[in-house]
Amino acid sequence: MNLCAVILAAGRGKRMRSAKPKVLHELLGRPMLQHTVDTVKKLKPKKLVIVIGNGAGEVKDRIKDKSVSFVTQKKLLGTGNALLEAKKALRDTKGCTIIVLNGDSPLTTPATLKGFLNSHKRGGNDLSLLSFTDGSLSGYGRVLRGKQGNVISIVEDKHATADQRRKCGELNSGAYLMAPSIMKYLDKLKKHRLSGEFYLTDIVGLASKDGKKVRAYICPAEEVMGINNRAELHKATAILNNRTVSRLMQRGVTFIDPSSSIVHPSVRIGMDTVIYPNTCLEGSTSIGRDCVIYPGTRICDSTIGNSVLIKDNTLIESSEVGSGSSIGPSAHLRPQSSIGRNVKIGNFVEVKKSIIGDRTRASHLTYLGDAVIGSNVNIGAGTITCNYNGQKKHITTIESNVFVGSDSQFIAPVKIGRGAYIAAGATITRDVPAGTLAISRVDQKHLMDWIKTPAQKSGGKIKHKKKKPRGGKIADSS
Ligand code: UD1
Ligand code: CA
Repeated sequence: MNLCAVILAAGRGKRMRSAKPKVLHELLGRPMLQHTVDTVKKLKPKKLVIVIGNGAGEVKDRIKDKSVSFVTQKKLLGTGNALLEAKKALRDTKGCTIIVLNGDSPLTTPATLKGFLNSHKRGGNDLSLLSFTDGSLSGYGRVLRGKQGNVISIVEDKHATADQRRKCGELNSGAYLMAPSIMKYLDKLKKHRLSGEFYLTDIVGLASKDGKKVRAYICPAEEVMGINNRAELHKATAILNNRTVSRLMQRGVTFIDPSSSIVHPSVRIGMDTVIYPNTCLEGSTSIGRDCVIYPGTRICDSTIGNSVLIKDNTLIESSEVGSGSSIGPSAHLRPQSSIGRNVKIGNFVEVKKSIIGDRTRASHLTYLGDAVIGSNVNIGAGTITCNYNGQKKHITTIESNVFVGSDSQFIAPVKIGRGAYIAAGATITRDVPAGTLAISRVDQKHLMDWIKTPAQKSGGKIKHKKKKPRGGKIADSS
């Protein structure tokens, strides 16, 4: 069966109270519309049309996908009018079954859509709708069935009588499968007097009255919830997060407090890794086996090897960390940092666009930016690569086995040869040859009597037993 897909995404989304189009609000790193696009593409439709209207330009810019055609709904006259606009774009796909989805229901799984499609095919239905049962929800269309269980119509919640509401707990998800013969009813939809809209749901009553075979396929309620406001956005995010975390737990990952770890569906984590509370794992992040990720950590678009410790309050962005390394607490790996194996990046260390070799240690209070550092290097506390001269960024190269004493600065571009020693407190402005010791310090001086005695300050009123020598003589430290 040839399939075409239409996603309705033109609506205003007034209930979100946002300057941004509703369908671009994100669930775990992706706009809700993108979730639906990705899901429906698993059915391999011949054509995928998205109806846009409110914020059309923004939606087009954000959903960059060559397989999608956009159709603009000129006036937002309801879901029925939205599909009518899409009909023109489907002219070249005669004979196709059409799947229609709402752009604000991102939780439907590919498995459910496949089941929906199979039941439509097997039943030889003209029109199928995806429904769910949940007596506690409001705002959804009610599915009214005839005596034989066939669907006769959908009545919108706001137009339903108290009796219909009480008796009918089956709700419309807004997803439909339509044989080509159903599209003609779009032209017959009538504008609702109260709302001024054409309801796509009315197509069900029209087709059923005409003797078409209309059936409903019931799926789990949490898969088809629509997102109309911030509370529903939160609820849907929690459902998706729970799904992701549960899947990872089944694969052998420990979450100490699953609901407080935010994990994007695209994240991969290896067996026996332990994730502490208040952690965010985002984008294309991949974490190996036997790692421990402590609280307050956020990792985005990064690759972490096996047996890595990420200690509390660490941020890792678009970087790589080799196996056996330890990062943090309170460290920041900025984009394009590549950390080798068994490296230690410790307290308050910031690394930016740098390569750090195996077994190198930068344990405290350091900035390494645009640096290429070899293996087995010791970076003392307070070391800074001065990579920026106000105009350009420059590279600091530190070869393997170098020892950098505390509080050193490297004025880039500069290169430190293999095995060199940098004495503490150095400001390195020139290349240091391999195996040498570089010291750049001003000799220490002592200013004698720099601080006056309390007696001198108070004009001689306080008497001291011992008299200190007078004068401001400068003495060498040696
Ligand atoms: C709709 C259904 C309701 C169903 C619910 C499921 C109708 C009349 N009602 O109600 O039966 O239970 O979805 O979530 O269809 N849209 C357009 N153009 C428009 C109006 C809406 O493209 O002119 C798009 C919206 O962007 C949205 C989708 O259609 O993605 C649904 O619209 P929305 O206004 O959210 O419909 P509901 O009131 O939720
Ligand atoms: Ca909706």
